[in-house]
Amino acid sequence: MRTVYLNGEFVPENEAQVSIFDRGFLMADGVYEVTSVLGGKLIDFAGHAKRLERSLAELDMQKPDDFDNLLEVHRALVRLNDIDEGMIYLQITRGAPDDRDFVFPDPETTRPTVVLFTQNKPGLANSPAAQKGIKVISIEDQRWARRDIKTVQLLYPSMAKMAAKAAGKDDAWMVEDGKVTEGSSNNAYIVKGNTIITRHLGTEILHGITRAAVLRFAREAQMTVEERSFTIDEAKDADEAFITSASTFVMPVVEVDDHAIGTGKPGPISARLREIYLDESLKAAV
Ligand code: PDD
Repeated sequence: MRTVYLNGEFVPENEAQVSIFDRGFLMADGVYEVTSVLGGKLIDFAGHAKRLERSLAELDMQKPDDFDNLLEVHRALVRLNDIDEGMIYLQITRGAPDDRDFVFPDPETTRPTVVLFTQNKPGLANSPAAQKGIKVISIEDQRWARRDIKTVQLLYPSMAKMAAKAAGKDDAWMVEDGKVTEGSSNNAYIVKGNTIITRHLGTEILHGITRAAVLRFAREAQMTVEERSFTIDEAKDADEAFITSASTFVMPVVEVDDHAIGTGKPGPISARLREIYLDESLKAAV
């Protein structure tokens, strides 16, 4: 049984309890982060902590009292649950007032709810999916307009994932005004020649922590990066495609809407970026 963290305490997972009035539960009024663990160490913790701080500020949500301690909490959970490879999930909600109300509760009396738990995934870095590549479908992006804030409103991404599964595929790329925004829980890329193309930052997509690192490594390796939107037709015509996220790192995409991309096998640039990303991230892990 896992040891989880709830509001300052480390407890067995079956003893962690949150109020039915918690605004995370009633209103999806909460934000989250997923940080990967490799070799028992955290990948890009600083990046995730910075984005978390921004998500809280954008929603006018108080930082919890243990905010400055979160690195220690992450490390303690890795230790207590003996995680070598996997993820740490963190969620902060606006807390639990004593009734349901659209008005935000007084932050002095209703403190944020903080939850962290581990997900043990042995073999995460050596995933067989990375050898094979994944297949995606396209689907209309019907999420709210502030996707740059990492909120726990994941119903539509969940539905997109289910649509992919129903079609016998692995994931969905969401499309708005004819252009790909991102994957259900990852950023989306195509490769044309030596050029990596991924949507520019804005409120339409999450500013991936993995995205920032991968684009930095790509530029350092003399690859050309174009931050602009692209269409599904461009993706079908690309030499390669891939996604990035904290839980998949760099994952090749070999098919979109039943159409093979490039050779239909993971391409060399995706493979190289995955290798560089894993190497460099491990070196910098804390
Ligand atoms: N998802 N876009 C969306 C919509 C995401 O949900 C995520 C992450 C990303 C990639 O961001 P990062 O590189 O910082 O992980 C992009 C996490 C992993 C999840 O929901 O499980």
